[in-house]
Amino acid sequence: MKKARLAGPTLTGIKDPYMTTTTPPLEERLERGEITTFAPCPFALPTGDDLAFLTQQQVGAGHKNISFNPANHAVSGFVSHTPEQVDRLQNLMGDFSQRVQAWLTALLPRYAAGWQPDRASLRTEEEATRRLRLTARNDLLHFDAFPSRPTRGARILRCYVNINPTDERVWATSDSFAKVLEKFGATVGLPTRDSNTWVRRLGQGLLGLFQPNVLERTEYDEFMLRLHHFLKTCDDFQERAARRLWHFPPGTAWLLFSDAISHAELRGQHALEHSFFVAPETLALPAESPAALLDRMICANSTSRAA
Ligand SMILES: [Fe+2]
Repeated sequence: MKKARLAGPTLTGIKDPYMTTTTPPLEERLERGEITTFAPCPFALPTGDDLAFLTQQQVGAGHKNISFNPANHAVSGFVSHTPEQVDRLQNLMGDFSQRVQAWLTALLPRYAAGWQPDRASLRTEEEATRRLRLTARNDLLHFDAFPSRPTRGARILRCYVNINPTDERVWATSDSFAKVLEKFGATVGLPTRDSNTWVRRLGQGLLGLFQPNVLERTEYDEFMLRLHHFLKTCDDFQERAARRLWHFPPGTAWLLFSDAISHAELRGQHALEHSFFVAPETLALPAESPAALLDRMICANSTSRAA
């Protein structure tokens, strides 16, 4: 465990130069909404002709990114190619997916014990100028929620890499899920305790909620989607919430739980990304997960209504 030496006050009031503070484990910092950067990227990235090939790709109409499914090695969302080009894209995205998985398995073994690798993506559009419908825009603050791939209470861990050879990628982050839930939860519309299976199952514990590849949304997924759409259309939040700017230079990787910290992708072109659904039972701080925080708010609301 990493320790930092800090001068601090002692009981006698004299500063002790050897007093130590302990940095919380990476899992706890990530689960609480930190973004952790790795520069240079700790695994091999495409170079030369392979990098040029990736940066020349174009996203097909109706798609946000070029997508790779590690379960079947299928790529989708690109402008049509020859079979040879499809093979090359599949191989490059497959290599990226394997390298991220190997690195994260060593870095965060407790998650790897029960995660579901989700999609990897190639992001070739300039974020600052791309035209997307409002709720699909990346440059507005939001927490991630995937309409077509419900997590059913699992958390969304994402690894990004800026593969632009020359330009940085710029993000903004703002309030945590806990803070936004407190402020806007009731307005977004909390699930009711007696009307959904999800809450009843949460009451029996988080184990069993996480069922990979089940496409039916739970009330948790529905709430996260409502929150996602609400925040992107909330001028008050977009214009007044405190922001921190992040500048990710070429060759930098960064990790975050994108359901824990509100974020916006402001500028940048050419990035690789990989998502993982992390099972609740493998979390370091399961009681602080968005699903658990939402459940506590629902319980508190139903108790106060019954009183
Ligand atoms: Fe996002």
